[in-house]
Amino acid sequence: MPGPDILKLHSPAKINLFLEVCGKRSDGFHELETVMLRTTLCDTITFEADDSGQLSLNQTECSAIDIPLDDSNLILRAARALLATEPRRVGAKITIDKRIPLQAGLAGGSSNAATTLLGLNQLWELNLPVAVLHEIAATLGSDINFFVEDCTAAVCRGRGELVTPIPVRGPFHFVAARPAAGNSTPDVFSKLTLPHELHGCDDVVAALKAGDAKHLTKAVFNRLTQPAMNVNAGMTRLIQQMQTETNRPVFMSGSGSTCFVVCDSESAAQQVQAGCSSLDAVFLTTLTSA
Ligand code: C5P
Repeated sequence: MPGPDILKLHSPAKINLFLEVCGKRSDGFHELETVMLRTTLCDTITFEADDSGQLSLNQTECSAIDIPLDDSNLILRAARALLATEPRRVGAKITIDKRIPLQAGLAGGSSNAATTLLGLNQLWELNLPVAVLHEIAATLGSDINFFVEDCTAAVCRGRGELVTPIPVRGPFHFVAARPAAGNSTPDVFSKLTLPHELHGCDDVVAALKAGDAKHLTKAVFNRLTQPAMNVNAGMTRLIQQMQTETNRPVFMSGSGSTCFVVCDSESAAQQVQAGCSSLDAVFLTTLTSA
């Protein structure tokens, strides 16, 4: 069957409900154990076949955020990595409607790269197996494999690229906010003191499986929170303000700077969001796993 001429795909943001740094590796990266959850916050990427063999990236005029559209963008890097596997001359016009903030710990760029691998594999009829897409994803970054895997949530280990899907009895609701400044992931890791005792993710995994938001809010953990607070004073103030306004524990996603609270229900999340209106808080939801 011929591939489609045009393909429009969602590219979701993730949040981390658990992140432990288990050690430093000889390649300079850190060994992680992290639980990632797909959310309803999405970019949308359109892939259109270009018979002239050109590759181009643009963003829609109504995009919420401006992003670099040059070769530093992971979308183009993912597309070029796929082209390296393909002897035919194929091209694509790629257009992104960008909603996921940058340097936010939501893996927007990694998600875009994974969506590009999946989308162009289909558009160009490459028929590469998912295992090969995973191999390419791991060469481009640590969070991309999570989005290549077709799952709502997963425990990710190694650099983050070893993905084990886990069941989720959703929906779960979160209210998230960001300070003005984003966080640079290498800066945050550079401020980390490696722990003597490691936390484990079993409680988070059990809470997601049971659909238990109260249990989840007791179990969420992120080892990078303190180092991120050391590099971003605005985020530290935001956490204190969210704690005061919501009277709930506030957590950080990834290496920040997005912070969030776990809510028991959609109506509770709406109340929390209204209470945080001065913080431009947004609503993140995740659904039941397939
Ligand atoms: O792989 P990714 O591009 O997401 O990583 C960005 C940076 O975050 C790396 O250059 C490294 O400084 C840090 N990092 C790390 N250990 C990981 C993942 C990321 O030290 N497992």
